[in-house]
Amino acid sequence: MNKSMKMISLVLLIGALLVAVILTFIALGFTSPIPWILAAVLIGIPFYISRREQQHFAVWKDEYSVGIKSLDDDHRKLLCLINKLQTAVHYQTGEIFEKEALDELVAYTKYHFDREEKMLEEAGYPDLDDHKKTHKAMIAEVEGFVEAYNQKGHEALKEVAAYLKNWLIGHINGTDKEYSALLTEKGMS
Ligand SMILES: [Fe+2]
Ligand SMILES: [Fe+2]
Repeated sequence: MNKSMKMISLVLLIGALLVAVILTFIALGFTSPIPWILAAVLIGIPFYISRREQQHFAVWKDEYSVGIKSLDDDHRKLLCLINKLQTAVHYQTGEIFEKEALDELVAYTKYHFDREEKMLEEAGYPDLDDHKKTHKAMIAEVEGFVEAYNQKGHEALKEVAAYLKNWLIGHINGTDKEYSALLTEKGMS
């Protein structure tokens, strides 16, 4: 079901519930639980929708911290950029916004990986090569998304933001955290 069909269905559902609430209050009175239950369902719909919408977005949690301020700031910024892309795709803001969000995300991902790798090199991190390989694979994947977007447009981006959100959270919460102790010991911030 596309977005406008979903919206029409929702409006119809709300309208039907509203009519049902009014009619059941008239027919059964204020002492019957049925109109009150229907009214509660009606009131609950916006909360349910809002919760569902928020599930698409990445939210920073303190547990994601790698203990290095500059890198935490980068990770926060990357989550924001993924949310920006998600917003552009989800609300179908159009090609200009989608492209801008995607380009910004690609550019900042490259900037962050570069900065992180330089810090790891400076600190003499023993697993740097493997970490670099993970970053490289991610860049290749993101560039594949850009290529697909250039060819197919909007449709190619539907699952991308969700994938990137899961990848980034998994990476900062797993692979990135492995360098925390060494960088902290070296006094890096
Ligand atoms: Fe990172
Ligand atoms: Fe990393």
